[in-house]
Amino acid sequence: MCAAWSPKSWREKTVIQVPNYPDPEKLGATEQQLRNYPPLVFAGEARRLRKSLADVCEGQAFLLQGGDCAESFAEFHANNIRDTFRVLLQMSVVLTFGAAVPVVKVGRLAGQFAKPRSADTETIDGVTLPAYRGDMINGMEFTTEARTPDPDRLVQAYNQSAATLNLLRAFAQGGYADLHQVHLWNLDFVADSPQGSRYKDLAGRLDETLAFMAACGLTSETTPTIRETDLFTCHEALLLNYEESMTRVDSTTGDWYDTSAHMLWIGDRTRQLDGAHVEFLRGVGNPLAVKVGPTMEAEELLRLVDKLNPANEPGRLTLIIRMGPDKLRAVLPGLIRTIRRNRRNVVWVSDPMHANTVMTANGYKTRHFDRILEEVRMFFEVHEEEGTYAGGVHFEMTGQDVTECVGGAHAITEANLGVRYNTHCDPRLNANQALELAFLLAEILKEGRTRDRERRRIVATS
Ligand code: PEP
Ligand code: CO
Repeated sequence: MCAAWSPKSWREKTVIQVPNYPDPEKLGATEQQLRNYPPLVFAGEARRLRKSLADVCEGQAFLLQGGDCAESFAEFHANNIRDTFRVLLQMSVVLTFGAAVPVVKVGRLAGQFAKPRSADTETIDGVTLPAYRGDMINGMEFTTEARTPDPDRLVQAYNQSAATLNLLRAFAQGGYADLHQVHLWNLDFVADSPQGSRYKDLAGRLDETLAFMAACGLTSETTPTIRETDLFTCHEALLLNYEESMTRVDSTTGDWYDTSAHMLWIGDRTRQLDGAHVEFLRGVGNPLAVKVGPTMEAEELLRLVDKLNPANEPGRLTLIIRMGPDKLRAVLPGLIRTIRRNRRNVVWVSDPMHANTVMTANGYKTRHFDRILEEVRMFFEVHEEEGTYAGGVHFEMTGQDVTECVGGAHAITEANLGVRYNTHCDPRLNANQALELAFLLAEILKEGRTRDRERRRIVATS
């Protein structure tokens, strides 16, 4: 049995990846201030997402999770939010229309401000300073002032999250996401790429379908699912002081919810069974995810699953696999078999980004598009072999025309990474690369569904 949980019981556990605040009193006062702020999301919304994820768990829907590696204060602009939202919409329409599968959209947005780091400090030219841990904690600039953790940043992160969420809700429900706008989501720099014209074709076919549906009486006015969409938010629940301050009792159920986002995940570095992060998240009612790297062992995973989802509810827990193609091939089948044998309900998702990060000779942290594709393909292949459902993907991407990942149809090379390398942390797919990936995914999903139908037909006739 687990000991009693409270929003602050994590403080009794070992906590890692924490900043060292020089003024703990100020931190305490800031936490108190945040406790009085309105929730950013509502428990009912988090439960709605859990229900959609239960559909994913049962193989009836697909999860598309994506957005920035780290949001930043400097790049806070309506256009950036809109462009990321547009690419998510485009990817989702490619998947829904191309593979005929409902897509659950969850953005790494409106709260993704804290980053785990491999070292606590960084040394440049003999000067050692605290590592940059995300804009919610300190600044990226290499000065003592910027790198000192500052509690005021928690409030700024809250405010930026609130404004971002407000705009996302307006986009999702105010007409921008209406399927009749599907042509307008094509970003200018994408429009004349191979993906752009492929997308234009698909949008044309979608128009015809919508015209047919309108003739049958299904229009934006009569059918809200044509007019609006759901976009949920997620981030890594890393800075527990912030997450605890945003945790409230839901008045309708009496349960605790972390109201900073709909879905929260535990990173690969902070998923220790007895650690503070697992302790905190096990007590909130939000849908949860855990990043699963190649060092995860099957028994350990089973214990973690039971701790985070003791009632074995479908949709409560998502496992985000990030191993790199080779290790995934070696490790994932064993994990799947243990979970399946023990009949645990989880959603399996592929993050093909985080185990494929490399340094170039000219000093850029990058990812190769081909390796990303290879990991996604391998993930689907393993699930196909094991007879389990590959439920979704998790990407770092942006609507901007950045040059951070090598490859793709526009063939970004190591030499031209510097042209628009803007990330605050890890290299992201740009809009073209994200769309290219969506088309590929749609094909894989379509093949899988055709195979399923074929199998059902054989079973039915044998
Ligand atoms: C991330 O998703 O940005 C991240 C740090 O992932 P992971 O915990 O898988 O390394
Ligand atoms: Co990242």
